[in-house]
Amino acid sequence: MKNLIIRGLSKTYLDPYAGAHVTAIADVSLEVVQGEFVSIVGPSGCGKSTLLNMIAGFIPPSRGEILLDGRSVKGPGPDRGVVFQSFALFPWKTVLGNVTFGPKMRGVPREERERIGREYLGLVGLAGAAGRYPAELSGGMQQRVGVARALANSPDLLLMDEPFASVDAQTRMTLQEELTRIWQERRPTILFVTHDVEEAVFLANRVIVLSSAPGRVLAELPVPLPRPRVWAPLVEDRDFKALVARVLGMVRPA
Ligand SMILES: Nc1ncnc2c1ncn2[C@@H]1O[C@H](COP(=O)(O)OP(=O)(O)OP(=O)(O)O)[C@@H](O)[C@H]1O
Ligand SMILES: [Mg+2]
Repeated sequence: MKNLIIRGLSKTYLDPYAGAHVTAIADVSLEVVQGEFVSIVGPSGCGKSTLLNMIAGFIPPSRGEILLDGRSVKGPGPDRGVVFQSFALFPWKTVLGNVTFGPKMRGVPREERERIGREYLGLVGLAGAAGRYPAELSGGMQQRVGVARALANSPDLLLMDEPFASVDAQTRMTLQEELTRIWQERRPTILFVTHDVEEAVFLANRVIVLSSAPGRVLAELPVPLPRPRVWAPLVEDRDFKALVARVLGMVRPA
C-alpha cells in the first residue's frame, strides 16, 4: 500500500552562472492514492521534472514535505520506480539482463527473476527480444525495455517523466495504449509527467495542471473516459476533445 501526500512543496535552485535563485516549484500540494493513474501537465520549465526528482528522492525539497504512507521521503528507494525521458539501459547487458537487474540486486534467485523478466517483457511486447542488446533495438523498443525494467521491481509508485517524448508519434501512441493496458492489468500507482496535454488526458484518471514557472497547482480534473483507452475512437470522442481543450486553455491561456 502506498499513498503519496505532498504538502507545501517548494524547490529553489541556486543558478551557479547567474548567481541567482530560481524557484522551480512553489507551494505544491497534492495526493495520490494507491492504484491511481495521475498525469501532471504543465508548460516547459514549470518544474515538472524537479517535482518528480524530489518524489524519487534524488533531490531534497527546499520547503514542504513528501510522505509515502506517512513516512517522509529521505532518498531513493525500491518502492519507487522511475522511467525518465533519457534513461540509460546498460549497454553491456542483454534486454533480459537489464529487466532482471533490479530483482537481482534484491537477491531474487536467477530462475525466479528470469521468469519475472520474461513476464514483463511479454507485457511490453518484447518477448522475442530477451537475448538482444540495447544497441540492436529501436528507440521505441528501448523505451519499452525501460518500462519493463521499472515494472519488474514491482514498485508501489511508478514515476514517469516524459518517457515517450523521444519516440516517433506512431510508436508513442502504441506505447501509450500499452501503458494504459498494463496499468489496467496490474494497477500500479502511476504519476506521469508530460507537457503533452493529449497524452496526459489519454492516460490518466486525473490530470493535475501546473502553472508556468514557478509551478503551482492550477487545477485538478477527473478524466471519466471509459477504458480500455484506444486512440482510434478517442481522438474523435467529444468528451476527450472537450477535456483536452479545457486543459490546453489552462496550460496556454489565450
Ligand atoms: N539543477 C538545477 N540547477 C539550477 N536550476 C535548475 C536545475 N534543474 C532545473 N532548474 C531550473 O528549474 C526550472 C524547472 O526545471 P524543470 O526541469 O523541473 O522543468 P520541467 O517542467 O521539467 O521542464 P520540461 O518540460 O522542459 O522538461 C527551470 O527554470 C530550470 O532551469
Ligand atoms: Mg522535465
